[in-house]
Amino acid sequence: MSSEFAAVILAAGQGTRMRSHLPKVLHPLIGLPMYAHVTRAVLESGVQRAVLVVGHGREALEQDVAERFDGRVTTALQERQLGTGDAARAGLSGLTDFRDWVLILCGDTPLVHAGLVRALISAAESCTGPLAMLTSRVADPTGYGRIVRDAEGRVQRIREHKDASPEERAIDEVNPGVYAVRAPFLRDALARLSSDNAQGEFYLTDVVEQAAAHGGVTAVEWPFEDTQGVNDRAQLAECEAALRLRRAMQLARSGVTVRDPRTVYVDARAVVEPDAILEANVHIRGASVIASGARIDTGCVLTDVRVARGAYLKPYTVATESVIGEDAQAGPFSHLRPESVMEAESHIGNFVEMKKTRLGRGSKANHLAYLGDGEIGSDVNVGAGTIFCNYDGVQKHQTVLEDGVFIGSDSQLVAPIRVGKGAYVGTGTTVTLDVPPDALAVGRARQSIKENYAPRLRAKLKAQKEAAKKR
Ligand code: UD1
Ligand code: CA
Repeated sequence: MSSEFAAVILAAGQGTRMRSHLPKVLHPLIGLPMYAHVTRAVLESGVQRAVLVVGHGREALEQDVAERFDGRVTTALQERQLGTGDAARAGLSGLTDFRDWVLILCGDTPLVHAGLVRALISAAESCTGPLAMLTSRVADPTGYGRIVRDAEGRVQRIREHKDASPEERAIDEVNPGVYAVRAPFLRDALARLSSDNAQGEFYLTDVVEQAAAHGGVTAVEWPFEDTQGVNDRAQLAECEAALRLRRAMQLARSGVTVRDPRTVYVDARAVVEPDAILEANVHIRGASVIASGARIDTGCVLTDVRVARGAYLKPYTVATESVIGEDAQAGPFSHLRPESVMEAESHIGNFVEMKKTRLGRGSKANHLAYLGDGEIGSDVNVGAGTIFCNYDGVQKHQTVLEDGVFIGSDSQLVAPIRVGKGAYVGTGTTVTLDVPPDALAVGRARQSIKENYAPRLRAKLKAQKEAAKKR
């Protein structure tokens, strides 16, 4: 019968070196908190039970776990942060009946992925001793526990950086904090830990020395690029850059054109379908969905936005919580604020801002407009410089433009207002009264012409200037 695996993820530490009010493991990388990357890797590897050890900032963390992993992950409380060994003890208290293999990972190693967890599982399945673990070689091992091996190359113990001698500090093989331990052995070993070390903490790493003496340690070397830990914000930035590139390349392999993978930022939760095009320097954030055949041009920042097939977002379009329909076009320099909907084949152009507005099928607002709290039918043309005056200083009001309406340039629509189907608003009109269907509304001052008046006007103005100089 094959073994069962449960996971304990350590996430109770304060993360002092982050210098942050936010608990370390809640710092996001590509839109997902640090601990959630590790937790996802564990669940994706097929592990059925996962316990997250919480302590520092526990309320925020427990809430995030509940929202993100609805019931698939439980939490265990570590009352005081007495070290990783004590944290593992707290984690085991959530697995009292469990007798098979316990995987232990740290919540601050966001680059671990399901493949790495599966490698750990197969190392455990093929090992006779009580403990299997990964190790990594790294150019600068500062801060990591060092892997100390005996003359035969067997792992003897892990020496923490702060406890290490100069010779031990020269070892470039480090402990990434990824272990599989048989549960009964782990319980006994944790009970025997002491805090007699440089940090006065119960080190989980001391379990490795006990395992070496009770059946041996199986160690599998794994690339550091997947095991790097985050202790400060410089390492946070390094890990986030790695995750970002990994995501971009994954999308490229799935059939998305990613013009410049190093400058494309796609959040972990966002979906980009094959045959979409992402030009350089785009940000696809939150739970955005970019459909096949959509093209997102350079400089676009999209947060929780759905972009349908064939839509084209021209450079520097910024959109939040909005929907962009099939074959619609926005930008360059358009701004869609929350609850905006562009229906199929609609267009907005440069310096057009939408908010809580629906732009109907085939309708256009191509230049310089503010469309706020609007309901715009199909085949409407909104001229340059049009403003929906939606706010009276106290309340917001609706502007309704029915199908086929034409709004001349530089018009103001003072909401609440309705322009009926097929109506025409003359350029420069301030619309304060509802316009019936098919009517023409014009509200500008009548123009007058004074023949040959311009030379006289100029002479008069020059005389005024001379008089002012003499004064
Ligand atoms: C630890 C390892 C070190 C390894 C490194 C890998 C020990 C003693 N050292 O060091 O060998 O190279 O990770 O990144 O294990 N935590 C708790 N409760 C605590 C203390 C820590 O839950 O009381 C959690 C933290 O939230 C963190 C993880 O355990 O997610 C690691 O703790 P951290 O203090 O960062 O350990 P390192 O010094 O990095
Ligand atoms: Ca760490």
